[in-house]
Amino acid sequence: MKVEGLALIFVLLSGVSDGSRILIYYPTIGISHVLPVQALAKSLAERNHEITFVSPFPLSKPVKNYRDIKLENNDDATASFISEVTKNPKNVSMFQMMSKMPQLIFKFGNETLQSKEVRRLMKEEQFDLVIVGFFFTDFGLGLADHFKCPSIVFSHGAGSFWTLNRMVGNPTSLSTVPSGFIRGEMTSFINRLKTFFLTGVEVAIAEYMKYYSKQVYEYNFPKSEGYISYEEAHNNVSLVFMNSHFSGASVRPLLPNMVEVGGLQVKPVSDPLPEKLQAFLDGAKQGAILFTLGSNSKSKYLPEQTLKILLTVFSKLKQRVVMKWESDVLEGKPDNVFVGTWLPQDDILAHPNIKLFISHCGLGGVVEARHHGVPIIGLPVYGDQPKNAEEVASEGWGIQMDLMELTETSLMESINEIITVPRYSEIAKKLSALTRDRPMNAKDTAVYWVEYVLRHRGAPHIHYAGADLNFLQYNSYDIIGLLLLILWISGKTIKFVVVRLCCRKKILRGKGNNRKKTN
Ligand SMILES: *[C@@H]1O[C@H](CO)[C@@H](O)[C@H](O)[C@H]1NC(C)=O
Ligand SMILES: *[C@@H]1O[C@H](CO)[C@@H](O)[C@H](O)[C@H]1NC(C)=O
Ligand SMILES: *[C@@H]1O[C@H](CO)[C@@H](O)[C@H](O)[C@H]1NC(C)=O
Repeated sequence: MKVEGLALIFVLLSGVSDGSRILIYYPTIGISHVLPVQALAKSLAERNHEITFVSPFPLSKPVKNYRDIKLENNDDATASFISEVTKNPKNVSMFQMMSKMPQLIFKFGNETLQSKEVRRLMKEEQFDLVIVGFFFTDFGLGLADHFKCPSIVFSHGAGSFWTLNRMVGNPTSLSTVPSGFIRGEMTSFINRLKTFFLTGVEVAIAEYMKYYSKQVYEYNFPKSEGYISYEEAHNNVSLVFMNSHFSGASVRPLLPNMVEVGGLQVKPVSDPLPEKLQAFLDGAKQGAILFTLGSNSKSKYLPEQTLKILLTVFSKLKQRVVMKWESDVLEGKPDNVFVGTWLPQDDILAHPNIKLFISHCGLGGVVEARHHGVPIIGLPVYGDQPKNAEEVASEGWGIQMDLMELTETSLMESINEIITVPRYSEIAKKLSALTRDRPMNAKDTAVYWVEYVLRHRGAPHIHYAGADLNFLQYNSYDIIGLLLLILWISGKTIKFVVVRLCCRKKILRGKGNNRKKTN
């Protein structure tokens, strides 16, 4: 008895921190999608979990307990599409974007599930948890069924996407939560009208993507081999992580298994900068500016004219400029500019001399700037970037500009405005305080919930009934339908009875009249 008791206590104590085997699958096209998940994976590895991370973007330095499996994306279509979008964002319509994306995501996803590496994992290894990074990549949920383990979905974006809500049954409120495409108060009729229709568009896009995703799922996890259906895999997700935080997004209802971990990739304590860069920034007596157009939109795709404008303006500044550039040489580089092929953006933004961030406004960069309280000049290119830039501008800690219509004067004016008007950095500092004020930082929150799902074997007790209902059931349309039917039948019955009664009276009265006459 005693020994058993001790053994039990030992098992309870050792519990999960003993190390679970966690498979993370993220066959996406943008490294910025993967960065927050990598941050989570590193924290889990530090806590002795064995991480296997399948994605096209391995870590630059190896980490203990962390194994990268690199997916090769040999598809030139991806590279040329991104270059096209960057060079000429206005030429690429939403429609073209929507018709190109499935080709890129689902073709690549399908290939990765059949790659030697993934096939070997599926045959030879066992996992306790599967985390699927979500950029329409939900076909990966079949892996959880394959290993008979719980699944967690990690969403790259902040949006309360229809697909994610449907996975766990989270309410999509048309009257209170603005559509991902707009900003503003929902007390405004126009905003509610817009949200109503834009959510319709969002649903259409989501269902369109699901149509492709389901094909990839069914090819790789066929029912004939005993796999659960795509829909079942969807409804059996234990938890959804969202890369957002209410301090920087619209407030919305969230189930306990929809957890906000925005800012995950921001390190609680910054790493030291490379020596040269540290010296460069320390020496920036008038402050410094960070310029980067992100990892997808490579600056070498910049039109020559735009590059010339940038360099001319930078050369006239008193501030020093750190600039991301994909080659070590940059012709005509002014003395106050530091170029690097790879720059630790988060650590640079943490430097006290950084006064301004000129950015394409990818979600990651905006979150980091907000965390460190650095104002932004937004030069959005595509995707969610214009909306992010607009949001920063409307919150008052940045200026949105058009990359294609940039001139020396307009750029100079914007830079001067941000550097000289204190309001921008004051608001940025205030938002920074809000985003840092949480019971646990984003990383610890995410680790806690991953281990929660592991401890409780999928945590079925937080599964919400909404996940199992279809659209009609969820919105009580079936009940309303029944009530309408009952109402209709009652109406018919009453009408029938009334007509009968009236008629009988009339007949009776008629008969009476007849009687009178005969009398
Ligand atoms: C983009 O549009 C402009 C103007 O409509 C046109 O001149 C240009 O050739 C287009 N670029 C591409 C790559 O299609
Ligand atoms: C749902 O996931 C749990 C683990 O979280 C698993 O035990 C269960 O079998 C799954 N249900 C279906 C229908 O696959
Ligand atoms: C996935 O790949 C296989 C093998 O290359 C192919 O036969 C199948 O049609 C593909 N499915 C989808 C949905 O792309």
